[in-house]
Amino acid sequence: MSFSTTDYQVTLRGRTILDNLAVNAAPGRTLAILGANGAGKSTFMKGLCGLVAARGAASIDGTDLLTASPTTRAQLIGYVAQDMAHLDVRLSTYELLLLAQQGASRRWATGQQAQRNASDMLELLGLQRFAESQPGELSGGERQMISLALALIRSPRLLLLDEPTSALDLANQLQILDAVSAYTREHNIVTLAIFHDMNLASRYADDTLMLHRGKVFCSGSTPETLTPANLAHVYGVDCRALSVDDGRFTAVYPVSVL
Ligand SMILES: Nc1ncnc2c1ncn2[C@@H]1O[C@H](COP(=O)(O)OP(=O)(O)OP(=O)(O)O)[C@@H](O)[C@H]1O
Ligand SMILES: [Mg+2]
Repeated sequence: MSFSTTDYQVTLRGRTILDNLAVNAAPGRTLAILGANGAGKSTFMKGLCGLVAARGAASIDGTDLLTASPTTRAQLIGYVAQDMAHLDVRLSTYELLLLAQQGASRRWATGQQAQRNASDMLELLGLQRFAESQPGELSGGERQMISLALALIRSPRLLLLDEPTSALDLANQLQILDAVSAYTREHNIVTLAIFHDMNLASRYADDTLMLHRGKVFCSGSTPETLTPANLAHVYGVDCRALSVDDGRFTAVYPVSVL
């Protein structure tokens, strides 16, 4: 296993938000993290990034993230946060992509390779038209896509996506998640993605983990885990699983609150 946590715990203001989490994810695969509002999904990712204090162990490729320096964590993790206030700066998308590559050197990456990387990343995600725009002046969905470009350009080993498509239209949801899946497989990284859209989780996540009140309720391959019984327990909603395109996709339809 290239990503794992053991006895992972986060306490905020004296309240245990995450308790004794054991999470495993394999390289080249995408793990969906599901759960109700307030279940602790964002807190799980923030603890890995060092934005909140976490106890226990969490490692990627053998490096313990919780004891690693901020520089090492920044090298290993790409993070697309739920809140994108950090993009309100007076720099263009292209400048931000150069800045993101500076690593620990504290100098702007301006070489030809850095410029090529920035252009390639914009092309990969279909964002060339935003190169000269300041993200603060773009729409919510456009900012969300730029946030992903900034996470990927640093070649992370662990990609953390907190509701990465919550602001995207239908076409961009598919285009962006197709690009993330392909990147995850080709670069053999581990991607963890928080979703509220069960259909996107069903389509894009190889594996799924459901958090319930700060604990792992179930985990495994997505078809085994994303079941009406588990959804009823975690969300309190009666759902149907529907076969689409002769079983090529499984759709989840929420019928009623239980
Ligand atoms: N800085 C904080 N201080 C105290 N409690 C916090 C803090 N951040 C989050 N919490 C609490 O931790 C719990 C989990 O929050 P978290 O943001 O991880 O939920 P989530 O699963 O991401 O929910 P959502 O689906 O709404 O984004 C919530 O009850 C929240 O009130
Ligand atoms: Mg959240």
